[in-house]
Amino acid sequence: MIVLGIESSCDETGVALVETSQAPVPTLLAHALHSQVDMHQAYGGVVPELASRDHIRRVLPLARQVLAEAGHAVGDVDVVAYTRGPGLAGALLVGAGVACALGAALHKPVLGVHHLEGHLLSPFLSADPPEFPFIALLVSGGHTQLMQVDGVGSYQLLGETIDDAAGEAFDKSAKLLGLGYPGGPALARLAEQGDPKAFKLPRPLLHSGDLDFSFAGLKTAVLTQSRKLGPELEARKADLAASTEAAIVDVLVKKSLAALAASGMQRIVVAGGVGANRQLRAQLNAACAQRGVRVHYPELDLCTDNGAMIALAAAMRLQAGVQQATATYAFDVKPRWPLQEIAA
Ligand code: KG4
Ligand code: ZN
Repeated sequence: MIVLGIESSCDETGVALVETSQAPVPTLLAHALHSQVDMHQAYGGVVPELASRDHIRRVLPLARQVLAEAGHAVGDVDVVAYTRGPGLAGALLVGAGVACALGAALHKPVLGVHHLEGHLLSPFLSADPPEFPFIALLVSGGHTQLMQVDGVGSYQLLGETIDDAAGEAFDKSAKLLGLGYPGGPALARLAEQGDPKAFKLPRPLLHSGDLDFSFAGLKTAVLTQSRKLGPELEARKADLAASTEAAIVDVLVKKSLAALAASGMQRIVVAGGVGANRQLRAQLNAACAQRGVRVHYPELDLCTDNGAMIALAAAMRLQAGVQQATATYAFDVKPRWPLQEIAA
């Protein structure tokens, strides 16, 4: 079975082709991505209307590209998958509309995928794929969640952010430091030249005894600190960036360890854009190595949004028999869609 996947929930258009065969995990045949970062940069963040229009421009050329790279004709596609949510409504509608139109034209069924399930399963495409069950730390621009994953579609929420997401904390702090958009990678880059212990920043909910997160206070602390520094800020920017990164990473690592201890699991998967953060990887790897816990990540190019994870999630759901593709083409998107709603 060949699945074409389309991702268009935010500011990346992604298209990919996966194939299910005898192998337990579907194989990625080809994937292509267009990032809108350059376009949104001038506005300091994602402009939803511009995002939708750009997805429309990009999605079919990207689909042609992956089909050509994989050496397949469009008629070889058995199922068309798309991101149904969560995300920007207009952007989601582009992927859903194109997927349903393709499905209808090809007389092939379609399947709407949960974006976070895509992130969650993306490490299965890596050279070191996980095995079920595992703890998942989902850290993206819109979500920060710890989950217990027992199988495809079997997701139990253990804790989540009560305000900003980890990626949002990176992005908002970066903005305060004048680092532009997207802030996460820019802040991480600057942090490499700074001292993570230079400023004592809050680690909210670190000792709350549960697995929830809170990052809104951190952004306020960064603002207060930068105001205090005044003209000195420029010279101390790298230190403040490093201290901010350290605070975020510290909380993510400690809460992940708490989730592992509480569940007795020996395996953790890190997914979502913030999973590309080097400090997070280094510290989580070190802490888990001490405890004999295996850590799995998606390949670096599949950490942020992409079509491969959408095609993969669709293929794995179909393989596991937890969902069927449909030929009704009555697409609807879900801009807000808690992952628990698709959990068995
Ligand atoms: O998963 P993703 O591509 O999109 C969402 O579904 O949100 O995640 C994007 C987020 C942004 O907040 C971005 O700043 C952050 O991931 N990010 C990083 C890094 N790379 C991306 N944050 C910290 N360090 C990085 N290296
Ligand atoms: Zn994402």
